[in-house]
Amino acid sequence: MTKKYVTTPIYYVNDTPHIGHAYTTTAADVLARYWRLTGNEVFFLTGTDEHGSKVETAAKQRGLDSKSFCDEVSSSFRRAWENLDINFDRFIRTTEPAHIKCVEIILRKIFDAKQIYKGVYEGLYCTGCEKFLAEAELIDGKCPDHRTAPESYREENYFFKLSAFREKLIKLISDAGEPDHIEISPPARRNEILGKLNLGLEDISISRSKVSWGIPLPFDKSQTIYVWVDALLNYISGSDYAAFSEGEKTEFEKWWPADCHLMAKDILWFHAVIWSSLLLAAGLKPPKKIFAHGFFTLNGQKMSKSLGNIITPSEIVERFGVDAARYLLLTVFPFGVDGDISWEEMVKRYNSELANNLGNLLNRTLTMAEKYFNGIIPSPVEGDGIKLDVFEKLNKFGQNLENLEFHLAAASLQQAIDASNRFIQEKAPWALYAANDVRLKTVIYELIKAIAIISVHLQIFMPRTARTIWKSLGLKEKLEDVSKFCLGGKCDFAISGIQINKIEPLFPRINK
Ligand code: MSP
Repeated sequence: MTKKYVTTPIYYVNDTPHIGHAYTTTAADVLARYWRLTGNEVFFLTGTDEHGSKVETAAKQRGLDSKSFCDEVSSSFRRAWENLDINFDRFIRTTEPAHIKCVEIILRKIFDAKQIYKGVYEGLYCTGCEKFLAEAELIDGKCPDHRTAPESYREENYFFKLSAFREKLIKLISDAGEPDHIEISPPARRNEILGKLNLGLEDISISRSKVSWGIPLPFDKSQTIYVWVDALLNYISGSDYAAFSEGEKTEFEKWWPADCHLMAKDILWFHAVIWSSLLLAAGLKPPKKIFAHGFFTLNGQKMSKSLGNIITPSEIVERFGVDAARYLLLTVFPFGVDGDISWEEMVKRYNSELANNLGNLLNRTLTMAEKYFNGIIPSPVEGDGIKLDVFEKLNKFGQNLENLEFHLAAASLQQAIDASNRFIQEKAPWALYAANDVRLKTVIYELIKAIAIISVHLQIFMPRTARTIWKSLGLKEKLEDVSKFCLGGKCDFAISGIQINKIEPLFPRINK
């Protein structure tokens, strides 16, 4: 059995979960489901990032101490993911003792390895981004994302010798033959990172003297660890590094290095460069793959609470239902690029792909099976040459998911559904019925088989819908049990002779 470790970023605890966060998390869930169903052992980690001055300020505004504030708000992400049927294995919070311990152990290791030194930092800091901005990045003196002026900052900090890792990183990122190769996708993003690395790499400040809501540096308790360094370490604290490094038996070695870190392009540099270097400095392997997807924009603007333009996952679930929300969100545009999102477009796709295409196939087929065969799935007629091959349309489905080409995987599903609807038109079962033609049996059998195969594939995006369809077909095997072979292109379950139960339309048309 192969192990697969997939992560999302940990989201700022005081943010309201929005569809940008949901985009990454649903992608991780879909990948994790695919991996599980094809026989891998999967660990899927998500969570919340809970330290830093933004959290401290928000807690003060609410009249709470920072920890109580985090305890109160951290469940909003958990709830959002439960409402989207996100099947994570572990939800990590950076205020957990195991995480804090892990951060202390790693910082101490890097310090002992002489990769940390004391220096003076001067710069412009944007609290919204929790990072320093270069003069050149500003628009009219303001942060382009938060539209606020950054603060001038000067203080004595500890620095991490990031510059020492430049050559090693270039080699690990560019050379696929390297044993610890870091795959960065899409290729254009990898080239951006390499381009930046080729220009040079400066050491970074990794502590703060004025931020009190953070983990104290183990070797100088007057400073706290920069929130980004703290946050990145979640990927190993979440897989039990602290206990492992203290000699306990944990699964850390089984899971690490991560197979896929998913995120949007905004934080790729932190992962590809800073995270990989921190790991190397601590004597650990870098992640195997980092995928940076594009940004959802609303009217061309980044979505954020401070800009007041967010759409929450629950708004989409309320409008379309959980399965359609997952499907529409994840397949709206290619995963690696940016795209604008609109309610109109979502309604249009819901109606055409789900209500019409999928809905009609189900409704017509089940109605005919009931009318012509009293709902008992017939056996095909040997040698009549009638065949509906949906596997042909789905033969790249798995590869598309492995490559994080969700829109292509969804397109192949739509093609399989299209082909089945066309099959109905071409074979005209109503005419065969009227003519008492025995080939009607094969036509209905092939259609039911196609629906079964489609639902096995559909379950990755739409688990509830697939289960409902499977149940209505009455098949004896469990959906999970047939998945491994069916996703590999083999239909290994019996169909004939089974009683189907007709279901209400799963995706009623939306007219507004
Ligand atoms: N806390 C840091 C991450 C630390 S990971 C070690 C952070 N948090 S965040 O709450 O701002 O989440 C950023 C991530 O949310 C993005 O990388 C992306 O995964 C997702 N998205 C946030 N807004 C998004 C869009 N508008 N569009 C697509 N994804 C976006 O950064």
